[in-house]
Amino acid sequence: MQKSAHKRGQLLGVLAASLVLAFSPLVNASTPAPSAALVKYDYDQDIFHPVYAKNGMVAAEQELATRVGVDVLKRGGNAVDAAVAVGFALAVVLPNAGNLGGGGFMMLHDARSGKDIALDFREIAPVRASRDMYLDDKGNVADGRSLYTHLAVGVPGTVAGMEYALKQWGSMKLADIIAPSIKLAEEGMPVSVTLAKMLQVEKDNLGKWPGTRAIFFRNGEPLKAGDRLVQKDLAKSLRLLAKHGSKVFYQGEIGDKIVAEMARHGGLISKDDLRNYKVEQREPVSGDYRGYKVVSMPPPSSGGTHIVQILNMLERYPLAQYGANSAQTIHYLAETMKLAYADRAEYLGDPGFVKVPVRGLTAKRYADELAARIDPQAVLPASAIKPGKPQPYESDQTTHYSVVDSKGNAVAVTYTLNLNFGSGIVAEGTGILLNNEMDDFSAKPGVPNAYGLIGGDANAIQPGKRPLSSMSPTLVLKDGKPWLVTGSPGGARIITTTLQTIVNAIDFGMNPAEAAATPRVHHQWLPDELRVEKGLSPDTLAILRQQGYKVAVKPTMGRTQTIQVRPDGLYGFSDPRNPDGATLGY
Ligand code: DON
Repeated sequence: MQKSAHKRGQLLGVLAASLVLAFSPLVNASTPAPSAALVKYDYDQDIFHPVYAKNGMVAAEQELATRVGVDVLKRGGNAVDAAVAVGFALAVVLPNAGNLGGGGFMMLHDARSGKDIALDFREIAPVRASRDMYLDDKGNVADGRSLYTHLAVGVPGTVAGMEYALKQWGSMKLADIIAPSIKLAEEGMPVSVTLAKMLQVEKDNLGKWPGTRAIFFRNGEPLKAGDRLVQKDLAKSLRLLAKHGSKVFYQGEIGDKIVAEMARHGGLISKDDLRNYKVEQREPVSGDYRGYKVVSMPPPSSGGTHIVQILNMLERYPLAQYGANSAQTIHYLAETMKLAYADRAEYLGDPGFVKVPVRGLTAKRYADELAARIDPQAVLPASAIKPGKPQPYESDQTTHYSVVDSKGNAVAVTYTLNLNFGSGIVAEGTGILLNNEMDDFSAKPGVPNAYGLIGGDANAIQPGKRPLSSMSPTLVLKDGKPWLVTGSPGGARIITTTLQTIVNAIDFGMNPAEAAATPRVHHQWLPDELRVEKGLSPDTLAILRQQGYKVAVKPTMGRTQTIQVRPDGLYGFSDPRNPDGATLGY
């Protein structure tokens, strides 16, 4: 339902569709339709309406994966069971970002213990990786080496992370969790317009590798919308995982094939690298914002730290009074974002290798100090914060999904291959696309990565180190219980997208659909540019330009998957920026 509304993309269409959606047999297929009273959600005021479900909900970027997760919940699985099932399913049905050959983060609220847990299954640099591995003879960063070669691949963490989560907090068997994904890979699925477009965009990167072509090309051309994507090798790998668990990936047949792929093409990942891969359970970063507790991903993500840091600065401004996307609100968003991203470049990295001052960065007193530099009108030039030379680059391929079950468990997962389809390399015989996460390291101090982000020593390449990430799976708690479960893809824009989702919900009282549909803004210090989506009023843009912002209207930013827990049930929404996403519940 939500999907058809997005395709029309018209306000009226969305409104009409959402009225239907509230009572739609499609959305709540196997559930009794909720009573009108339950669906009411500031009904007369809200322009966009979220999906409602009473018991459990999954919001993900591909409907087939969402359905896999909801089925698990209906069978009595908990949120972690469903999240792991969705993780495997997205590896099949969202090949550009869902993955077995990548890595990511999971935030979990365990209702039984009341604890919040951060799980880190980020890729790590192979032992043979070295600080200057992406530099040419002249000491310049070699074009594409950290992105589209076997050297770009970090040791994957997803399979270990999924298995770890299931063992610790799940209740079902891995084989049962993986079964639907085997079927999807084996029987295939129709290529959507969105996927076909991405295959076309990445045609050259993917087309270089026979193993990749064999899966995603037909007659020398990428698959088109409506073609069937069948992934026999991937089905085989999934079957092996269902039978043997992650051992077959890290110390068995699948791992051997990955290592052989590396050896054939000058990649670095060895059997030892795979055997030594370790998932890390971490203490989340948390902060208070206007009576809510925000709990998010600590380093090696920069996300949680900077979301809390920015919220700490924003708390002093009456944003609700200024209004959503007013020039005044955007001004404070931009100024606070800039200050945080400057710190990101300096301080953030893998805590196993560098001391990251998370507590200092997220302290209220530090926010006071930083905010003292912010003028209500004047724009602080980026050069006054710290110099650099940015080179922005576009790509938006990571994926986030959120799950809430009937027991109050909540899971937020963001995982990725880095760019669209990662390195574009499939380890021959496995059907598994390999990441290019090594590009998230700082290849050379001051030289921007694919997202225009710069870094220094804290994020320099070292063997066994995790590259700095922006992925920010986030839980917002009210009175100790999950209230909002959210996150987004979007590279450097993940942090600001997630931040605005939180501010939209808390300050502006938006429901998840409205919070997602509202145009976003982004400032990452360098480039010194206020990036905005289309949809802001010309008057607002004129005020911001007059103030001194270099305003750039560019492609959309982020794609949130948000679930809100309200006393009467769950309200969720898949970001309209991706028409393939779906939020479903029961
Ligand atoms: O970990 C990171 O921050 C990046 N590798 C995420 C990549 C990403 O979000 C791509 N676009 N959506």
